[in-house]
Amino acid sequence: MIIAVDGPAASGKGTLARRLADHLGLLYLDTGLIYRAIGWHLLENGFAPGDENAAVEIASTLDLTAIDEVQLRTAGIGEAASIAAANVNVRAAILQYQRRFAEKAPGAVLDGRDIGTIVCPDADHKLFVTASPEVRARRRGRELRLSGTDISDDEVLADLLRRDERDRTRAVAPLKPADDAHLLDTSNLDIEAAFRAAVAIVSGS
Ligand code: CDP
Repeated sequence: MIIAVDGPAASGKGTLARRLADHLGLLYLDTGLIYRAIGWHLLENGFAPGDENAAVEIASTLDLTAIDEVQLRTAGIGEAASIAAANVNVRAAILQYQRRFAEKAPGAVLDGRDIGTIVCPDADHKLFVTASPEVRARRRGRELRLSGTDISDDEVLADLLRRDERDRTRAVAPLKPADDAHLLDTSNLDIEAAFRAAVAIVSGS
């Protein structure tokens, strides 16, 4: 069983994917964290996020099994991740890892931008999770402030819109729903209601 959960930044796909995996007894992979780790290594080593050679070198040598999410959840790292993620060779370097993860027993839920379109086009279920930009900015703003970042919802909104635009318009693996994805708009749903809607989709009810 493979479940693909895609969607724009801060749409709630991570929370949903993790809960689905727990509920169904499946493995879970947050593929955004891989791109964030690449972004973090670029910045940490003094490279520009758009430095293609450095990004490919990092993507090819990073231990993908040992990514620690502490310090990766900042707006700056998200931006660097999105710039590096537009590079075809960066994406190619981590594609097989994601596919092999998806094939592990007893099955997996993967969340990202291109899971249903590129990484697992034959997934058993595909969800494309959205929410209005304002709702997403409010949710992410709250998260960031809780973790100690001093940032307004307006600043978060500008960051999300810039990142979504880049993710949607890039030439390789752009953010878009797979033709056979179920759209799930969580603008007016709390976590519990979004989870119930996702369970209904994957159980076909
Ligand atoms: O948590 P949030 O939705 O803000 O972002 P994320 O899922 O952690 O992803 C960070 C960035 O990585 C995105 O803006 C994308 O540019 C990139 N990404 C991607 O290109 N493909 C994926 N499968 C996952 C993330």
